[in-house]
Amino acid sequence: MELSVERDGAVERWTILGEARRNSLTMALLGELRAHELRAAGDRALRAIVLTGAGDRAFCAGADLKERARMDGAGVAGFHRALREALGGLEALPQPVVAAINGAALGGGLELALACDLRLVAEEAEVGLPEVGLGIIPGGGGTQRLPRLLGVARAKELILTARRVGGAEACTLGLASRAVPRARLAAEAQALAERLSRLAPIALRQAKRAIDGGVGLPLEDGLELEHRLYRPCLESRDRLEALDAFAARRPPIFGGE
Ligand code: COA
Repeated sequence: MELSVERDGAVERWTILGEARRNSLTMALLGELRAHELRAAGDRALRAIVLTGAGDRAFCAGADLKERARMDGAGVAGFHRALREALGGLEALPQPVVAAINGAALGGGLELALACDLRLVAEEAEVGLPEVGLGIIPGGGGTQRLPRLLGVARAKELILTARRVGGAEACTLGLASRAVPRARLAAEAQALAERLSRLAPIALRQAKRAIDGGVGLPLEDGLELEHRLYRPCLESRDRLEALDAFAARRPPIFGGE
C-alpha cells in the first residue's frame, strides 16, 4: 500500500506512504491514487479531502527516480499517461482537495499539489520544478497549471531557473494560500477541510467546475459556462436550506441534494 486513507466524518486524509524514498511517485502509487479518486467521486457522504505526505521531510519528491532508471521509453510514456490521468482525476473530483505540503514538493510532487484546489504549506518546506536542471521539462502539467495559477512571468521565473522556494515565498508567489509551522500543518489542514465539509457540496462542485473550466475561455464563454453551472445550485434543496437557516438564524445543514 502506497497511499493510506483515513476517514474522519465527512473528511478523508490521504497520505502518501514512502518516507524512505521521500514519497516519490511510483506507478503503484499513481494506480492507488486513481482507484481512490474513482471511489471518492461516487461517495456523496465524503465532503473534503486532505492530501499529504508521510513524515516531515517531503510532501512528494516527484517521480521516483530509482524506478525511472529501470524504465525503458515505453515505461516512461506509460508513467506520464498514468500521472496525467491521476492528476486530472484529482482536479476533477467533485469534492475540494486540500494539499498539506508538509515538506519538499518537487517536480511531479509540486505538480500533484497544483492539481489540488487549495494548498497549505509548512514554513520549512521547499517547493519547485527542478526539471530543466535534469534535462527534461515538467511532465505532469507544471508548464500549464503553474502559469494559470501564478501568471506567465512568475511561472517562467520558477520553471526556467529551476529555483526552489521556501514556504513563506511560496505564499508570496501565490503557490500556497498560507504557510504555517510544520507542527501545526496537519491540524490547520484538517480544520480547513472540516470548514469545507460544512459548505454546500453541489455549490462547491459547481464552483470548482466554473473556475477550472472557465479559466482558459474568452470572458463571454466563461460567463455562459458560469450561467450553466449555476442552474443545478438553483434547483438544489441545499439552496432552500440556506434560506431557511438564514431566516431562522441557525447554521445550515447541507444534505448535498
Ligand atoms: N526518487 C527516488 N528516491 C528519492 C527521490 C526521488 N525523486 N528523492 C529522494 N529520494 C531518496 C534518496 O535517493 C534517498 O534514498 P537512499 O537513502 O536510498 O539514498 C532518500 O530518498 C533520502 O534522500 P535525501 O536526499 O537524503 O533526503 P533529504 O530529506 O535530505 O532531501 C529532497 C529530500 C526531496 C529535498 C531531496 O531528496 C531531493 O532533492 N530529491 C530529488 C527531487 C527531484 O529532483 N525531483 C524531481 C524529479 S523530476
